[in-house]
Amino acid sequence: MTAPLIDPFQRAISYLRVSVTDRCDFRCVYCMSENMTFLPKKELLTLEELDRMCSTFVRMGVEKLRITGGEPLVRKGIMTFFNAMTRHLDSGDLKELTLTTNGSQLERFADDLYAAGVRRVNISLDTLDEKKFADITRWGRLPQVIRGIDAAQRAGLRVKINTVALKGFNENELFALVDWCKSRDMDLTFIEVMPMGDIGNEDRLDQYWKLSDLRKDLAQRYTLTELSERTGGPARYVRLEETGQKIGFITPLTHNFCESCNRVRLTCTGELYLCLGQEDMADLRAPLRNNPGDDAPLEAAIRQAITLKPEGHDFDYSRQTVDGRVSRHMSHTGG
Ligand code: GTP
Ligand code: 5AD
Ligand code: SF4
Repeated sequence: MTAPLIDPFQRAISYLRVSVTDRCDFRCVYCMSENMTFLPKKELLTLEELDRMCSTFVRMGVEKLRITGGEPLVRKGIMTFFNAMTRHLDSGDLKELTLTTNGSQLERFADDLYAAGVRRVNISLDTLDEKKFADITRWGRLPQVIRGIDAAQRAGLRVKINTVALKGFNENELFALVDWCKSRDMDLTFIEVMPMGDIGNEDRLDQYWKLSDLRKDLAQRYTLTELSERTGGPARYVRLEETGQKIGFITPLTHNFCESCNRVRLTCTGELYLCLGQEDMADLRAPLRNNPGDDAPLEAAIRQAITLKPEGHDFDYSRQTVDGRVSRHMSHTGG
């Protein structure tokens, strides 16, 4: 193992999020426009290159690997990559191998993921209404995702539901979502919608439902107790005393959690983004491809990249305008 990765603000980088494809079988309105253009396949890191890249990060102190997309499970041959990462779990160098998914392919992959050592999955789901689900994802169908969730739980995977809080869309489903997660023993985290990427005609400000408001709504029915525990991500948690449930809030707009950021993001083309909400990045594909069999230049490029990590993001919707937006889509850096 080499010296750990420490950024200019003395934060240890122990969490790598890897977007293995920018493609997706859904077209969520807050994420993509319907006629999204995707990267040519030859731009992508191969599965072998992804392995080499991730293994290098693990050697440099990354303990948590989250596979994202686009939709990670639409990447051809992706189980080969998961199975290859199992060796880092077995060695103890990697503490967690996990993924964030829309759930569409879980029926097919849940057992294999468990066998590869995955124990938790985060599944994105914004509504329990079939019609609204089809509207918001454009191409997704709710029953398929529910079957995916069933398969994940049957396989022994712990499920966390990620719900983007959207004004006028799922405000009236707050309690239905909470009850549903309780009945299935799943955690639930709400996310504020972030100004990322051009999404066509949709307006971010119209979509924005402040989580501080959502909390007040929750508090009308439940007693909320603030929890100090963390999952290594930006979510802050409360317990609903009446049900014992844990509810998470990811609030990039109303509260900045950047001071404890421990993560960087690798795109499917080998760019390392140092922050979800900033443009700072470094190309790691060239040092990887140009030096087959020698990881030293890649390690040097990673160390150099970490020195660029900014203090935090600047998303801001105050004053009725959207500030701090970034041009790339969430599917590029994987959320
Ligand atoms: P846990 O391991 O369960 O804590 O996961 P996580 O919350 O780190 O991962 P997940 O993929 O569930 O993240 C949910 C969403 O939170 C992401 O898709 C992003 O929208 C948002 N998010 C995660 N990390 C960051 C971050 O560093 N900055 C910002 N602004 N948003 C983030
Ligand atoms: N703002 C907040 N969350 C978003 N996601 C996708 N786009 C956005 C956005 N603009 C969420 C998805 C999924 C995760 C990967 O990111 O719903 O939960
Ligand atoms: Fe696909 Fe996730 Fe984007 Fe929806 S939010 S289009 S599921 S990448």
